[in-house]
Parts: sequence; C-alpha cells; structure tokens
Amino acid sequence: MWPTLVYFLLAISCAVSIDEYENVINERHDLLQRELDMMLGNEITFSDSEIKANEIVMHLKAKELDRAYRSPYAYNFTRHFFEYKDAVKQSPLYEIIKKMPKGAILHAHDVGLLSPDYVLNMTYWDNLYVCFEEDNMQLIFSDKTPKVTCGTQWQLLRDARYTSIDVEEFDAELRKHFTLLVDEPHEVYFDVNSAWNRFQQYFITTGPMFCYKLAWEQYFYDTLKAVREDNVMYIEIRSTLPPLYDLNGEVYDSIATAESYKKVVDQFVKDYPDFYGAKLIYAPMRLVDAATVKEYIKIAKEIKRRMPDFFAGFDLVGQEDLGTPTKEFLSELVAAKDELDYFFHAGETNWNGMSSDENLFDVIALETRRIGHAFALVKHPLLLEEVKKRGIALEVNVISNVVLKLVGDVRNHPLATFLAQNVPVVLSSDDPGVWEADPLSHDFFITFMGVASRHADLKLLKQLALNSLYFSTIKDKDRVVHEFEIRWTKFIDSLVRDKW
Ligand SMILES: *[C@@H]1O[C@H](CO)[C@@H](O)[C@H](O)[C@H]1NC(C)=O
Ligand SMILES: *[C@@H]1O[C@H](CO)[C@@H](O)[C@H](O)[C@H]1NC(C)=O
Ligand SMILES: [Zn+2]
Repeated sequence: MWPTLVYFLLAISCAVSIDEYENVINERHDLLQRELDMMLGNEITFSDSEIKANEIVMHLKAKELDRAYRSPYAYNFTRHFFEYKDAVKQSPLYEIIKKMPKGAILHAHDVGLLSPDYVLNMTYWDNLYVCFEEDNMQLIFSDKTPKVTCGTQWQLLRDARYTSIDVEEFDAELRKHFTLLVDEPHEVYFDVNSAWNRFQQYFITTGPMFCYKLAWEQYFYDTLKAVREDNVMYIEIRSTLPPLYDLNGEVYDSIATAESYKKVVDQFVKDYPDFYGAKLIYAPMRLVDAATVKEYIKIAKEIKRRMPDFFAGFDLVGQEDLGTPTKEFLSELVAAKDELDYFFHAGETNWNGMSSDENLFDVIALETRRIGHAFALVKHPLLLEEVKKRGIALEVNVISNVVLKLVGDVRNHPLATFLAQNVPVVLSSDDPGVWEADPLSHDFFITFMGVASRHADLKLLKQLALNSLYFSTIKDKDRVVHEFEIRWTKFIDSLVRDKW
C-alpha cells in the first residue's frame, strides 16, 4: 500500500514539474527573443550575403569574448583604454571594422582629431617660436620674435631642437604635450577634474600654433583625409572658431575662420569626390556669462547668413560640472531657437540631480536636434521616453568618457542600455587624436566588443552607421544613404570572399 501511494504521488508531482519546466523554458526563450527584438538594429533584414558575413563576424566575436569570459583579468576592457588601444588592432575584427563603411562622424572637435605624431611634425614647420616655461610651453608662428609675454625667452623652435643634446629626446618631450597618454593613467588622472585639466592644457598649448592660418587650414585638410581613410564619408565638425593670424601678426575674426573651413572642405571634395563633405557646428566655450552667449549667437547667425549650406548649428562646450549651467542662458537661447539648430552637449557627468545633469532638461526643452554625450540620461526615464518620441539622437563617445573619467570598464557604460532599447544613438569619437585613437574605428570596435550584448551582430553595426547619416544635417539623405548602401554591399562581398 505505502510504496504504491508514494510512487503515485511522485508520478503526479513529476508530471506537473515537467510541464512547468517546459513553460519556464518556453517563457525564457520568448523573453530573450523579445528583448533581442528591441535592440538597436532590429529593423534590418539581412541579404543572403549579409547572413554569411554575419556568421564570420559572430564566429570571431564569440571566440574573443568567450576566452575573456573565462579569464576576465586578461580581458582588455577591464583596463584603461591606453593599455589596450594598440593591442586591439591585432584583432581580425578590428580590421573588419576599420574597413567597414561607418557613415558619418557627428561629434568631434576640430583640433582634437589628429595624432600627437602629426602635431609633432607640425613643429618642424618654419617660423615656429617656442617659449619654455616651468611646466608648460608656448608655441607661436611669427616672422619675428613674438610680442606675447614669455616667462623665459622666445627662440625659434628649430634652434632649440638643434642645439639640444639629443633631438630624439627633445622631440619625445615635446610630444608629451600633444597627447593625454601616460603610463599610469589612474594615478595621473585621479579624478574628473585632473583629467579635464590635462585635456584643456592640450588645447591651450597647441591652440596658438594651430591658429596660424596656414597651419589651421592644413590641419583641417589632413583631418578630412584621416577621416576618409577610416571609411567615414562625412563629418560635422564642432569649432570654437578662434581668431586666426598671419606670420606678420595680422589677426582675423571668427567668421573668417569659418570661411577658411569652407574653403578647405570645397578643395577637399574637389580632390576626393567620393567624400561627402563637412558642416560646421559653432561651439564656443560655456564658461562665460549670458552677455557673451548673446555675442556668440550673433556670430552664429552671421555665419549662417553667409554660409547657409555649410553652417549646421550651435552648441556650447567645456566641462559641464564646472561650466555655467545651460539654464543661465535660457533667455538668449530661447530667443534664437527658431533661427538656429541646436546640438548641445548635455549630461556629460556622473552626478545625479546637479546642474550638469539637469542641463539635459534644458536642452530637450530647447528642442536640441541631438545631444552630445547624454551620459547621465540613463537615470531619467521620462527624458529617455521623450528622446525616443522626439527622435533626438544621442552622440555617444565611449572612449572619451573613459579618458575623461566617467566610466572605468566600458561594460558599465550606459550605452549598453541605450542600445538594448533602441534609443536613437550615433557613435562618435570627440577628440580621438588627443588619446591616440583612430578617427572612428576604435569607438566602433569597443562598442561592438565591450559595450553591446554578445548577441549584437552586424545589424547593430549597420544601424549605427545608418543612424549617423539619418541624424546628420545632410540635405539629400536618400542620395547619401544610397551611396552608403553601395559601399556596404561591397564591404559585405569582400568580407564573404576573403579568408578570416
Ligand atoms: C586584447 O585584444 C587583442 C585582440 O582582440 C588580443 O589579441 C589580446 O590578447 C587582448 N589582450 C588582453 C590583455 O585582453
Ligand atoms: C611625419 O613626418 C614624417 C616625415 O616627413 C612622415 O614620414 C610621417 O608619416 C609623418 N607623420 C604623420 C603622423 O603625419
Ligand atoms: Zn564633445
């Protein structure tokens, strides 16, 4: 009697649990699938070639990630970008992403795009003077000894170099001023402010050299070249539009700087007709008062009037935690909002509920077209909904956020959340030259391998590239997207053809 009853009861409970097991398994599968269907890129359907290319990419991705999963200590992305920026170039996936057409760069600052080696080469130009002071150095082009105050003495850089004991050593010391790279980033950059200080020092040191009109134009021409070589077809460049000067000391105004840019872009597109050109976002410093912003806006309107096809819009730049909150300028910005398109930096901070964080509320109310960084947006569910509803793109710059100390391990970057729920995102690179990254490839690679889900595939990459065109200010989007599709198909074909 007893054993029969026990068997009977066991049989019932087992039958129930098998059923329940099936239900849970099915639901788990269903939940996972529904969530994957929410991911950025979900609307894309693959061609047969894309399916094959995707298999190649996902095989390479899984191999690298699964190795890392077992030995996290040896995983690149738990470290600082400086430690793995060269190592990742060994990855076949890096090579693939480098070749991949990436669309546009929509968030980058004009004098932060080229490498320290490029800047060092510029110090070989004639007529460059240097003033070595205790911790810093001034550089300026001139046809005679500069009048600018120097704590020691001005000398021709060429003379300083060739009277130094060791030219290689001299150049190595000089180069340190043109990069944020150091051996011990966690010690040197111990908080957000120390990183920003060094970062700003780069612009202070190089600015007077770059502002020599010929150097400025050459730098921008070579920027476009580097961008094109990284398989980017178009760029919207942010600039503070500093006054430029000639060797004889003549100084021009911000509008002339914008004209210089336009001239360079026109020349570049003539030389490289496969490049779609560039537009300008006038982005002066935010650490000013409202009266100065009013002046900025006047300049912006004048540039727009003179170069309507070249001018994209207006922004304010600089560290938000220490800068003037956007709300201090609301009356000036509201007054100009029908005339100027806005592309504001906002929420580039780790703080929650502080003015830098709440800049997000101002810029959305001001109908910004895109938001630069929006790092803090993830903490604001209502704003996230608004951003999706209004189609405001987030210009995310992962490596910049690592270097400027908002996040250590890129797996913890809020971009993971944005991608998972298909928030409109464009990937960009901010100031890649200053941290020795490629114009855009590093940011794409790190996003794909370190931030996005293991499941994220070529659909995500393609959508990110397409987003950069959709959310640009290019007028004829059909034409540029069509051209992109042609390049993409070529890329896919070569991916399938080559051995990986
Ligand atoms: C870094 O990435 C490269 C390419 O994926 C890989 O070969 C290398 O082993 C990685 N190193 C570490 C420390 O993760
Ligand atoms: C710097 O100049 C040297 C010599 O002209 C050249 O070989 C090198 O490619 C240049 N580097 C950069 C980054 O422009
Ligand atoms: Zn920026």
